[in-house]
Amino acid sequence: MYRFPAYIDLQGRHVVIIGGGGAALRKARLMLAAHADVSVIWPDIEPDTRKELDGQVSIIAREPVDTDFKSARLAFIAIEDVDAARRWAGVARDAGALVNTVDDPELCDFNTPSIIDRGRLTVAISTDGAGPVFGRALRSKIEAMLPERADALLEFASSYREAVKGKIAWDDRRSFWEAFFVGPIAAQVLAGDKKHAHEAMLSVINGKEEKTKIGIVHIVGAGPGDPELLTLKAFRIIQSADVILHDRLVSDEILALARRDADRLYVGKAKANHAVPQEKIEERMIELAREGKIVVRLKGGDPMVFGRGGEELDALRAAGIRAFVTPGITAATGCAASAGMALTHRDYAQAVTFVTGHAKDGGESSGDPDLDWVALASLKNTLVIYMGVGKAGTIASNLISNGRAPATPVAVIENGTRENEIIIKGSLGELTSLIDAGGIAGPALIVIGDVASLAQGKTLQNLATQSSTPQERHVA
Ligand SMILES: C[S@@+](CC[C@H](N)C(=O)[O-])C[C@H]1O[C@@H](n2cnc3c(N)ncnc32)[C@H](O)[C@@H]1O
Repeated sequence: MYRFPAYIDLQGRHVVIIGGGGAALRKARLMLAAHADVSVIWPDIEPDTRKELDGQVSIIAREPVDTDFKSARLAFIAIEDVDAARRWAGVARDAGALVNTVDDPELCDFNTPSIIDRGRLTVAISTDGAGPVFGRALRSKIEAMLPERADALLEFASSYREAVKGKIAWDDRRSFWEAFFVGPIAAQVLAGDKKHAHEAMLSVINGKEEKTKIGIVHIVGAGPGDPELLTLKAFRIIQSADVILHDRLVSDEILALARRDADRLYVGKAKANHAVPQEKIEERMIELAREGKIVVRLKGGDPMVFGRGGEELDALRAAGIRAFVTPGITAATGCAASAGMALTHRDYAQAVTFVTGHAKDGGESSGDPDLDWVALASLKNTLVIYMGVGKAGTIASNLISNGRAPATPVAVIENGTRENEIIIKGSLGELTSLIDAGGIAGPALIVIGDVASLAQGKTLQNLATQSSTPQERHVA
């Protein structure tokens, strides 16, 4: 360690800034964030500095004098003249202030770090002046990991500090707080539900066993596959999970982000072959939450787009479990981005419709999708069909017989955004041949409409000149 990090209480304390330009302004902003009593002293105060600081700090437009530093806790020297900077640094130090001289490490008693300011939570990063840009890059990374409501959580905890002291024995207090910050009550505060978090906290402190066993469920969208398409919130929640119930479409890279000691339960289903019946999944989530766990129900794409997220939310609410939804990038937007097509490119489409090719009661093989073909065919906009590969022939013939032109462009995207992505394109009339020739087995989306002509993919002709078996094409 080159310098010792310490947090200084500057509330209402005097801080002197010598200078009137941009550097002085930046230091003044920092000091105002720390609620200091700031004086900015220099004959030339730039108009922008004056405009921003007016009314918030004392602006003294003259040469500094020695007595300006009296009782100053910190002094910043932010002027270009090296000799003058040296002199004022000496005066400030003699007056008992700690000094920071901009761009002159030898004249610094302290550095200003890269700061993350979330109220009570403050993170400071110093590179001892050797690489401030690196420090700022690290700050962005840490910032992205911190929950948005960290300050609210600390505020919440602090409001119970005395009550915990009164009710929980000294020996047990540390483990109480350790469990609190990683447990379901903190998760509720971070999810924005302070009301129920207070109820749960009171029952824990008052020793009402049963209620303490109520955990929390997060229904989280994992996006279409590429782990970088996860939202920051989803990333943080996955890392907080005690147990993750996940589908087939959640990629291994995303599961690998969970804590090593988190339980992972596969509850996926493929077409009609339901690995775990829906009611069982819901029951399991309720049981786990009642054990006091942070349960994450992780689903491919967005949990509320053809993901049964709505049904699960209803079941959890009916059981009195606190449940929250974190959206994800749905396959349609992920695949469209990957294929380089805008689903509502204004030269081609004014609307987009998401449709399932899956019959409601039991999967693609169980029957034809029960759709309003007349309405779908008459919309000359973009149709995105989820789970439609097994019924591609039915879909194409129904749309064509109800008026959609066989020449309408289509694109099929399998494993969109993943390493093994395949994109093929052609016309509605040749949809089944495209799917056969591309060896498409799913998960895949079908995009129908003029925007599909924009997709960066292979055509039937390209596929015909490629290697002969679908397996070989997948490997390619
Ligand atoms: C049960 S739905 C789930 C949809 C998901 N909730 C979403 O918002 O993307 C599964 C279907 O989504 C589509 N799908 C999901 N991920 C995909 C991907 N990476 N590439 C292509 N299609 C995908 C396929 O049509 C697949 O059969």
